[in-house]
Amino acid sequence: MRIALVSQKGGVGKSTLAVSIAWELAARKASVLIVDGDPQGTSRIACEVAAESSQNPPKVVSLGKTMCLPENLRQFDRFDHVIIDTPAKLGDVQRAALMVADIALVPIGQSGAEVWGNTDTIALISQAQTINANLRGALVFVRKLPSTALGKRARSIFEASELPLLDSETTFRIAWQEAITAGMGVAQYAPKDKAATELTRLVDEVIAFGSDLKEVANG
Ligand SMILES: Nc1ncnc2c1ncn2[C@@H]1O[C@H](COP(=O)(O)OP(=O)(O)O)[C@@H](O)[C@H]1O
Ligand SMILES: [Mg+2]
Repeated sequence: MRIALVSQKGGVGKSTLAVSIAWELAARKASVLIVDGDPQGTSRIACEVAAESSQNPPKVVSLGKTMCLPENLRQFDRFDHVIIDTPAKLGDVQRAALMVADIALVPIGQSGAEVWGNTDTIALISQAQTINANLRGALVFVRKLPSTALGKRARSIFEASELPLLDSETTFRIAWQEAITAGMGVAQYAPKDKAATELTRLVDEVIAFGSDLKEVANG
């Protein structure tokens, strides 16, 4: 399965989630490639940091808009899962990612501004779907503050969105920040933290979402 993390907004948690999803899938014995499409290189650097401390990160390649060229797609086919991290703002890299992805995950925070600020992201996903018929998009809540009034009613804000909102979500937890700082997935970095449960649920849901799609595609 190819999973792209996409948002026109920066600092929303794309790279943190990309790295954690990749580590979790690798821990489940799948072969995983991270494609870092962001010139900032957060996912690539994370993997380097982890390797320096003798961890065993997933393989990572830095690829921009060329990720949709046939030679790169052939490379992707050698992996069970390809996790694509993209930069903020929408452009050629996001378009390329949406051409090759099966699932586009859009991380969002709990305020209305998050969905208004992602109008173009959602429009780009539906534009890409006219060419990439496999592509499905979903919103995923990240860094939620569940004990706040807004956190409690946040789901209702997104009800009218064109994209489905995943049931699983991440809450604001330091373990997420510590894990990416160590270059690792949160379930491997802090297996006893609630963040690890958030991630494993999210990965389960994304896998199920993708399998449903494959079943539909196979008739
Ligand atoms: N669930 C979370 N709880 C706390 N901090 C988080 C969480 N998810 C992401 N972050 C932090 O938010 C910041 C931005 O995340 P990042 O993954 O770099 O975003 P992006 O790739 O979209 O720019 C980072 O400091 C990251 O560690
Ligand atoms: Mg990033």
